[in-house]
Amino acid sequence: MAVKNEKLEKLEKANKSDVAKIGKVLFTQEQITKRAKEIAAEIDRDFEGEDIILLCTLKGSILWMADIMKYMKSDAKIDFIQASSYGASTTSSGIVKISHEPTLNMYEKVVIVIEDIVDTGRTLAYLLPKLQERGPKTVKLCTMLNKNARREDHIEADYIGFEVDDLFIIGYGLDFDQRFRGLPYISYLDMEEVEKL
Ligand code: IMP
Ligand code: MG
Repeated sequence: MAVKNEKLEKLEKANKSDVAKIGKVLFTQEQITKRAKEIAAEIDRDFEGEDIILLCTLKGSILWMADIMKYMKSDAKIDFIQASSYGASTTSSGIVKISHEPTLNMYEKVVIVIEDIVDTGRTLAYLLPKLQERGPKTVKLCTMLNKNARREDHIEADYIGFEVDDLFIIGYGLDFDQRFRGLPYISYLDMEEVEKL
């Protein structure tokens, strides 16, 4: 989702505390923790005794990944993958490339992709078939957020933290132009509030 115009300049100068003032909190750390614990318990149940790899999509999913692995009772291995979209915007080009490859052997393993947000679904529509080429036993998808309104490719997550409306989400790993990933809650950019900065 593109954030355009003169307000960008104000945002560029904004720091974490400015954003804390204007940002609308959608989900608090407490809510996120509660949900992560529930999902971790579900994964434990669903894959008891299996070899699990949690595959974190960089960079936005690191905090959600940390929560899931922390609250799981099973000892999962972790790995990282980075997919980059090329072209002016994610939605217009739809061209995805893998810029960081996972290193663990996925053959016959339960691979659970840990994603920050599923938006158009383009990234995962590219990524998931690629992972299948590595011969995993199964590939599941665990996303912190699901933004259904803008879905273009049919992607359904197996585990969903929260549903969100068509807003520009920031915080808890999610960025606006690489910023605000460190906010310890899930927020969104309200452009009318940005005016007041
Ligand atoms: P896709 O449109 O489903 O391919 O989403 C691609 C990626 O865009 C996501 O994994 C996020 O990293 C990023 N993204 C999508 N929506 C938002 C948002 O609201 N805020 C921040 N990043 C987003
Ligand atoms: Mg992502």
